[in-house]
Amino acid sequence: MQQSEIVERISELRRSRKAIILAHTYTLPEVQEVADFVGDSYGLSKKAAKIGECESIVFAGVRFMAETAKILSPEKRVLLPAPTAGCRMADMIDGPSLAALKAEHPNATVVCYVNSTVEIKALSDVCVTSSNAVKIVGRIENDEILFVPDKNLGGFVAEHYPKKRFIFWDGFCPVHNFINPDAVLALKNEHPDAKVLMHPECAPESRELADYLISTGQMVDLVAEKRFRKYIIITESGIMHALRLADPDAEFYSLPPKDLLCPNMKKINLRNILETLEGHEHEVRVDEDMRVKALKSLEKMLELAG
Ligand code: 13P
Ligand code: SF4
Repeated sequence: MQQSEIVERISELRRSRKAIILAHTYTLPEVQEVADFVGDSYGLSKKAAKIGECESIVFAGVRFMAETAKILSPEKRVLLPAPTAGCRMADMIDGPSLAALKAEHPNATVVCYVNSTVEIKALSDVCVTSSNAVKIVGRIENDEILFVPDKNLGGFVAEHYPKKRFIFWDGFCPVHNFINPDAVLALKNEHPDAKVLMHPECAPESRELADYLISTGQMVDLVAEKRFRKYIIITESGIMHALRLADPDAEFYSLPPKDLLCPNMKKINLRNILETLEGHEHEVRVDEDMRVKALKSLEKMLELAG
């Protein structure tokens, strides 16, 4: 089947099956093109929490994102076209490890990055995303924060609150953590008038080279304002599609796409979206007890971020 036929068939089935397609900004351009909504983790969570007239949500993203949608909208059928699309950072901490850490720091407020399993969210007090972590931690009265699993996002947040005591887990995103700061510096020297937009999942040596440390959705919003003409983009390569749409006249520079690639995000394609809509396969299921506990940390996020 030609790509145009697949797109047409997806559109027909989406209507007849009352399905909504949500896509993360790291997915393939053609996937973002067929989506009803494209956004960052926070934007997608807000959308999933308020989704109205539909029976199913087809989630073009990785598993923790689809699980978040299921936790927030349990009455909807949430389908994950690429069932093996996980997040390597989310898999770096498990429930027993977090329970042990909590026992060591019983007075700490447990803050989990949304890039985590349902079990981790269920054990946490509040969830955060890269776009709201600084704001939410600032609104927590407790001065002792246990931040999991991303030591880089946690470190970035901690820089804003020198009076708070942070305990980190040694988790990280392999895509962002291993970016070579010398390569970023070389890009800056080549394009001195470009603004550096970087994801806060990057390691500290890279972060200090950034003009803006923001989520993918915030990057798209900033570029759409058209305040600057040139950008150096340091995050997963899929974002370039949304950025070029946000300002077609701007100039974008980045590292080679192979150095900024999340293989899991690239597992979602038009073919498996179509198969999912045809067969209603790969439904995301979450244990109800666990869901109710995890919902509390997500609801706390939505309350504190508002
Ligand atoms: P966003 O919060 O920008 O969507 O980032 C999610 C993510 O997985 C980054 O690697
Ligand atoms: Fe997870 Fe990193 Fe991929 Fe984001 S880019 S989904 S944090 S592995």
